[in-house]
This record gives sequence, C-alpha cells and structure tokens, in this order.
Amino acid sequence: MQVWSIANQKGGVGKTTTVVTLAGLLAEVGYNVLLVDLDPHGSLTSYFHYEPDDLEHSVYDLFVATKDVTESQVNALIRPTNVEKIQILPASTALATLERRAVEHEGMGLQVAKALRHLTDRYDYVLIDSPPVLGVLMVNALAACHHLLVPAQTEFLALKGLERMIRTISMINRARKKKLTYTIIPTFYDRRTQASVRCLRELHKCYPDELASAVIPVDTKFRNASMKGVVPSELDSGSRGVHAYARLLRSLIEQRG
Ligand SMILES: Nc1ncnc2c1ncn2[C@@H]1O[C@H](COP(=O)(O)OP(=O)(O)O)[C@@H](O)[C@H]1O
Ligand SMILES: [Mg+2]
Repeated sequence: MQVWSIANQKGGVGKTTTVVTLAGLLAEVGYNVLLVDLDPHGSLTSYFHYEPDDLEHSVYDLFVATKDVTESQVNALIRPTNVEKIQILPASTALATLERRAVEHEGMGLQVAKALRHLTDRYDYVLIDSPPVLGVLMVNALAACHHLLVPAQTEFLALKGLERMIRTISMINRARKKKLTYTIIPTFYDRRTQASVRCLRELHKCYPDELASAVIPVDTKFRNASMKGVVPSELDSGSRGVHAYARLLRSLIEQRG
C-alpha cells in the first residue's frame, strides 16, 4: 500500500483535482484506491455526492477516539463512490474545530497513520487531500504518507505559497527519521501567457530535482467533471488535462513503485 498526500498551503491550486484525477486513473488500471478527505471544506467528499454538513460519521471520528481505533471502527467510516475501485473516508465540517489546533499531545499527529495501518491489505493506493492550513490535519497528512505531491499554480503569487509549503516540509523533516520526499506539480499551465511560461522556468531553476516533468494545463473539462461528480478520465479520457495527469502518474509509479 502506497500512501500519497496532496498538500499546499494555498487554496485553489488543484489539490482536490489532483486527488480525483489520479484516483480515477489508478482505478482504471485495476488498483484499489482509498481517498481520505482531511479538508474541513469537504470538496472531495462533496465531489462524490456526500454532504460534509450532514455526515454523522467521518474522518473526524479518528480524532475524538480516546483509544487507538480498531480495524472495524475504521472500516465503518469508509464509504463507496460511483467508481467501484474507489472508496472514501469522508470529511465533515466538524473537522474545522481541529484545523488550526497545534499538535497538542504526543500521538495526535499520528491518528490517520494509525488508522491506515489497519488497511494495508485492502488498498493499493491511499490519496490524502490536505487542507491549506498548517495545523493538526496537515501534520497528520504529512506524517501518514510515503510521498507528498505539491500542486503549484504556475503564476508568481502562487510561488510564495509554495515556499511556505517547502519550509513546512523542512521543519517536518527535522523531526522525521525517514525524510519525506516530494514532487511539485505545475498546474493551471497556459503556454500562451508569459506569467505561466516564466513561472515554470522559475520552478525549474529553484526545484530542479523535485519538479515533475508532466505539466498540468488549464483544462475546463476538470470543472465539468466536478460539476457532474465523475472522475475526469471517465468524462473524457482523451482530454489534455487527463493526458497530463496520466504522464505524471506513470513517472510517479516508475519512481516509487
Ligand atoms: N488544470 C486545471 N484547469 C482548469 N481548471 C482547474 C484545473 N485544476 C483545477 N481546476 C478547477 O479549479 C478549481 C479549484 O481546484 P481544486 O482542485 O478544487 O483546488 P484546491 O483543492 O487546491 O483548492 C476547481 O473548480 C477545479 O475544477
Ligand atoms: Mg481542495
């Protein structure tokens, strides 16, 4: 079981889209995929037609348990989606009460990692959608994963958010025995605009080793897919955006196994 978290300390950069698109592509080739929604906004949860305001049980339950959760408790939180091989551990808006909380006591940062230990035989891939705020939820996302994906919008203002995220990774790595590796994914790329082209060049210069070779273009099909609540590869497997994510996925699988 490979666990990848998708995070950036900025909203609207394509985190949830990256989660959904990669999940669709992984499921298409036969992998069993679990999605974990750690964002209190619950966009990933809504994408699959669950209502984060109404859910009685959600990933929030992992944070209120007084003892470590059991396998059956985790299983009870997992819901199906409209894609057979994709399941979801949904978010509820109650998560917002945790979001800015620091990791107060030992172990609080490991709630998700501990829950996932029960699922190693059941899933090939787990993709965790992280909130854009550095708090207990993001710390859980970073602690639970083997590799981090950082979508970064190709415009200059977005580079600041990326720098903040990179500093967070360095801070986390000072506490980790095994260093957290990451891949930066350029998103919303429009080769007709100077801003996109220059920004991509800057990313190459600053992060030569971490930058993905696949570049995700602006593609309106992503929004159409999210409005319909289907994974993008199901809506249009030939779209430029889906092709770019497929290229990204191939390189990630080659590198990571
Ligand atoms: N490559 C893209 N091209 C065009 N629209 C995109 C692209 N990636 C995401 N979007 C759209 O932009 C909005 C924000 O993306 P989202 O993935 O929700 O960002 P985040 O999770 O980082 O807040 C959504 O409406 C989504 O459909
Ligand atoms: Mg999101």
